[in-house]
Amino acid sequence: MSELIQLGASRPKAPKPEDLKLQFSDTAVAELEALLTHYPDSKSGILPGLWIAQREYGGYLSPEAIAETAFRLGRSYAEVEGVATFYSMYNTAHKVGKHMIEVCTCLTCQVCGAYPVAEYLKKKLGVDFGGTTEDGMFTLHEVECLNACDRAPLIQVGDQYYGPVNEKSLDELLEKLAKQDESTVIQMADSIVQVHLASFEKPGGQPATKPKPAAPAPPAAPTSTRIRVEETS
Ligand code: FES
Repeated sequence: MSELIQLGASRPKAPKPEDLKLQFSDTAVAELEALLTHYPDSKSGILPGLWIAQREYGGYLSPEAIAETAFRLGRSYAEVEGVATFYSMYNTAHKVGKHMIEVCTCLTCQVCGAYPVAEYLKKKLGVDFGGTTEDGMFTLHEVECLNACDRAPLIQVGDQYYGPVNEKSLDELLEKLAKQDESTVIQMADSIVQVHLASFEKPGGQPATKPKPAAPAPPAAPTSTRIRVEETS
């Protein structure tokens, strides 16, 4: 019981409604409105709404991000926070770096060398699992099976898989990511938003359901719509 109380106490508090500063861009608002035309009620829009929020708030679903999502969907903060904290792909625990490196340590990857890979990354980045480098560039996470065991040991960065990885391929990847302008955490959130939007398109490009007249047009085509696997060695 005391642990539960502690866990509850560690959750950041919701901002007061009068303190809420809306940060969604016009594009984000248009995307959310377009998505909501395809659902029977706004509750169904919580998952894609949170992906929009994760992108708009720099990869982290802060209490403010959750509160804005709840406000825009007309749902309660508790309801939206409950969804956000249930799924591990939403970043609710802490701010994350520009790139999140997720190391699979499940059975196949473990047998193929996931722990030496993890130790190498921890030493090289100077952080443990859950940590972010001081320059805010990388966050390191441990994850369960990523369902590409034939590429073990495997890591995920944004919407891409890399494997089998070794020290040399990791060095090259970290160097490439450090030079990259765009955050792979934000790219990933955007990819998922675009998948939701694209899922409503029929092969001919027509919306599956007629949107409300006032709904803005969907944004440009996605840069990426699915997880890709890169062989790195
Ligand atoms: S065990 Fe790592 S991808 Fe399956």
